[in-house]
Amino acid sequence: MIVLGIETSCDETAAAVVDDRHRIHANLVLSQLDEHRPYGGIVPEIAARSHLDHLDALVARSLEQAGLGCAELDGIAATAGPGLIGGVFVGVMTAKAMAAACGVPFLAINHLEGHALSARLTEALDFPYLLLLVSGGHCQLLAVEGVGHYARYGTTVDDAVGEAFDKTAKLLGLDYPGGPAVEQAARDGDATRFDLPRPMLGRAGCDFSFSGLKTAVRHKAAALNRDETGALGNRDRADLAASFQAAVADVLADRCENALARFQDDGATGPLVVAGGVAANQNLRSRLSAVAAAAGTRLIAPPPELCTDNAAMIAWAGIERLSLRLTDPLDFAPRPRWPLEDLKRQEAAR
Ligand code: KG4
Ligand code: ZN
Repeated sequence: MIVLGIETSCDETAAAVVDDRHRIHANLVLSQLDEHRPYGGIVPEIAARSHLDHLDALVARSLEQAGLGCAELDGIAATAGPGLIGGVFVGVMTAKAMAAACGVPFLAINHLEGHALSARLTEALDFPYLLLLVSGGHCQLLAVEGVGHYARYGTTVDDAVGEAFDKTAKLLGLDYPGGPAVEQAARDGDATRFDLPRPMLGRAGCDFSFSGLKTAVRHKAAALNRDETGALGNRDRADLAASFQAAVADVLADRCENALARFQDDGATGPLVVAGGVAANQNLRSRLSAVAAAAGTRLIAPPPELCTDNAAMIAWAGIERLSLRLTDPLDFAPRPRWPLEDLKRQEAAR
């Protein structure tokens, strides 16, 4: 079984070809960073137009790399939400048109489910597992019981953790996207120099909060000396980046400890899985490994290029759904908001 996947929900245009034997035949990602940089953030209209300009050629290249024609595919999967709706439409319309033309099933993939199942593409990983999903728009802990079956343990009450990385990067004068830039800057910083809050640490439950931490970083950054161009010194920048990263790791580790306890109390023995863009962070991965080990289990993290947005995870989610015959009609409507818990209800309504 072989599936083409398309991802256009944010600022990456991506196409990939993946088979049911876990082989990635093509995995192309085109970043729109340069187009959004002058605006200091993602502009939805620019994103949608850019997806439209580049997607056809990217799909053609991925099929060429896989050495396949459209007729040899078993299905075409596209992110159908949640995300910036203009871009989602571009991917969904392309996938539907190809599915109709090739006479193969269309698979409407929830972007979060793409992240949630991504570890099963590269690892022998059975259900159930505990998932920490950390991206630019989301921060959740979920028990993954099966395809389409997610039980939420906790979520953020304000910002997503990736957003906190991006805002911190901006305050430090680092480039967008902030996560990799903060991680890089933190590498030779002193994580103990700035005393930053750890929201929710030690509290019962599995919810998150990052707005207080973000505000604290802003205050610390404002109190530092800047040169005549307004830039922070390298030492200050590195120390604040490292202090921020340590606070985030402390919070995420604490929340995962609670979630693992609950997961295991429910009788489950599966591993802890981390996915989403922020899961590319090495500091966080090593911290979570220790948390998993202390709970008698292990951490599974997809390779960094499958943590940040990509179409291989969408194609893989397509394979998983196709195997269960969970295909979608061509009049499926894209969804700007689409919580993972809704997938179960949707399945029941089929
Ligand atoms: O999953 P993703 O690519 O897109 C969304 O679905 O949101 O996640 C993007 C987020 C951004 O906020 C980015 O700054 C963050 O993931 N990110 C990182 C790292 N790489 C990407 N955060 C921390 N450390 C990283 N190495
Ligand atoms: Zn994502």
